Parts: sequence; C-alpha cells; structure tokens
Amino acid sequence: MKLAKRVQDLPPYLFVGISKAIAKKKEQGIDVISFGIGDPDIPTPKKVLDRLKKASDVPAHHRYPESEGLPEFRKAVADFYKSRFGVDLDYNNEIINLIGAKEGIAHAPLCFIDPGDKALVPNPAYPVYEIGTMFAGGETVYVDLLEKNNFLIDFTSIDTKLAKEAKMLWINYPNNPTGAIAHLDFFNEAVEFCKEFDIALMHDACYTEVTYDDYVAPSLLQIPEAKDISIEFHSLSKTANMTGWRVGTAVGNPDLINALMRVKSNIDSGLSQAIQEMGIEALSLSKDWINANNEIYKKRRDKVVTTLKEIGLDANAPKATLYIWTRIPNGYTSASFTEKLLEEVNVVVTPGSGYGTAGEGYIRLSLTIPDEQIDEGLKRLSQFTLK
Ligand SMILES: Cc1ncc(COP(=O)(O)O)c(C=O)c1O
Repeated sequence: MKLAKRVQDLPPYLFVGISKAIAKKKEQGIDVISFGIGDPDIPTPKKVLDRLKKASDVPAHHRYPESEGLPEFRKAVADFYKSRFGVDLDYNNEIINLIGAKEGIAHAPLCFIDPGDKALVPNPAYPVYEIGTMFAGGETVYVDLLEKNNFLIDFTSIDTKLAKEAKMLWINYPNNPTGAIAHLDFFNEAVEFCKEFDIALMHDACYTEVTYDDYVAPSLLQIPEAKDISIEFHSLSKTANMTGWRVGTAVGNPDLINALMRVKSNIDSGLSQAIQEMGIEALSLSKDWINANNEIYKKRRDKVVTTLKEIGLDANAPKATLYIWTRIPNGYTSASFTEKLLEEVNVVVTPGSGYGTAGEGYIRLSLTIPDEQIDEGLKRLSQFTLK
C-alpha cells in the first residue's frame, strides 16, 4: 500500500535514532547516560496528583469533555495570566485547553495554511512547527537564529516579497534548543512585523516558568497589540513536571482561538476533565514551589556548564529552559561529535542539526536526569579529550 506523501516525507523523529543507539549499547552490556530528551525526572507535585485522585470520582468527568475545556480550567489560566504577566484574558473566548502544547502547535497551521502557503519557522527549532506546516500542505521557509543575534530573529533580514506571502510566523522564547531569551522589545518588533504583513504570530511560551538567576520571562501578550494577531501556547509539562499528563493551553486573539477550537473539535474530543483539574491545581503552584523546582535545574545547569568548559567547549549558562546549547569544536559535525561522545564515554547528547540546518555545529544537553546520573555523566565527559 502506498502511504501518503506527508507520511513518506516525515523525517525520522529525532529521538528515535538516539534511542536506537542507546539500545545497541545496552545490548553490549554498556550503560549509557543520556542528556538527550527534555523530559523532567522530578515527580509531578503531590497536591496536583491528589487533585486527580479526587477528580477521578466525579461522574461528569467520565464523559466526553467540552472541546474548549472546563470553564474552571479556563478561569485558572486567566488568573495565571493576570497574576503572572499582568495580562487580561476573557476566559469565554480567549482561552482553550490543549492536550499538551504540542497538540495545539501541530494543529495551528490547519487554521492558517492552505496548500502551497508559506510559514516562517525559526531554524533551529522545535520540529513540530515545520511538521504541522507540512501536514497542512504548506511550505516552511526558515529564518535562521544566529548566535551573533542572540538567537533572535532579525526581521530586517526577511525579504519583503516573502513577508507578503507568509501566512504564519513561529517564535519560541525562552527557546528550545538554544536556551535564548527574548525581551519585550523583540516581541514588539515581532508584532509590528506581523501586523504590517498580515501574518498570524504564534508564540510557543512553554518555558516561561523555567528560569534562573532571577530572570522573569515575559509573555508576548504583554505587548497590547499582540492580541490582534497572535496565539500564545503554554504548557504545564515543564513548569510543573507534567509531561505525562498532557496539559497545555492556547490563549490570544478570540477569532484565532476560535479557529483552533473548531479544528480541534473535529479531530480530538478534548482533554480529560480530571486532568484539567490537575491543570487547575498546577496553575496555582506557589512561586516558592516553582523557585525550588528551578533551583534543582540551576544546580545541574551550573555543573554541566563547568564540565563542558573544562573539556574545552564554549558553553554558556542559559537564563531559562532545560537545555545547554553549545558549540562543538571545528573538524566535527554535530552528528560526528555526538557519535564520538557516545563511542568514547557512553554519553548521549542531541546533535544540533536535528533541530534544523542552522543547528549544525552545536549540541544540546538536557538537564532532566537525576543528579546522580548528571554527576556520572559529567565524570565521563571530563574523561573526554578533544583531539
Ligand atoms: C519548544 C517546545 N514546545 C512545545 C513542547 C511540547 O510541550 P507539551 O508537553 O505541552 O506538548 C516542547 C516539549 O519539549 C518544546 O520543547
């Protein structure tokens, strides 16, 4: 049977290759330390789990959920946006829930992209922006994130003809994989650019709560005009160690939110209401809880950066996200350097090229493994010699 072109064209999922390499090592009796995938090892907070236990007894939650989410969930998102970012949102028409941010991100292009339409996607980037565009029959046009620009988009470098054709632009700050952050002046530029060219602006804000050194990440919606043209995606996966529960939200312009809701309601049947209750609880986690959680990652971040520097890599400590993005030495590709680390010291990192051509020359290390494994991984890395 012939598979559809969109399936044939799918690149292999980045972490499948890594999992295979780990499995091969395991077969040889070698244990591997993996700084690969960004999936918090720290448990979901107890009060969030307790809420699920209670919620599972509520008969109404045993039935189909509403597509847009429980009003209580949407109100909790509105309260979070007000207290955290000072942003007012109408829970009736400016907020929907998502089965994890990934689901909304993958579906959003179906709202804006007709076959042949163009989407502007950062390079390197979380791969789902490109894949969602491809599934909608659109064409991805990459906009490079360069180190010399602090991995921010240089809007002046985007050709006017292309800007006029583009239907969507993706941005993501704090950024995966680079760890870069954006200030409000950058968001302002993005809004001005998208308003000028009538482009839907999509901001993936999944890492705004994973920050260090007193850095406070802004929301795109702090720019007053952003609500005219944008959707912001938020997730509890990394904020509250909830990757397994799949809770996210999309907020922003009511017409765009409604379009996403209509797409979703024809594809999925919503997010389990008991899990929405977990989301409500997670959205009210105290600042102290968030700070303590981030402190665990901060300690890991500092250790990893120190070791990378010791072995001669030019690593910087990011102000946010769970990732260290570092240049590799000349003479290697991201893939060959990754293979060398695996072969020589049994440590897995992610090749930067997996996030796009502009990721070539970098590797990414994730901070989401237990401290003992971090320590063992760093011991191994410190035995690695650059030749
Ligand atoms: C940039 C970015 N966006 C979205 C997601 C997915 O978030 P969720 O678990 O809410 O689907 C991830 C997960 O790694 C991510 O790195």
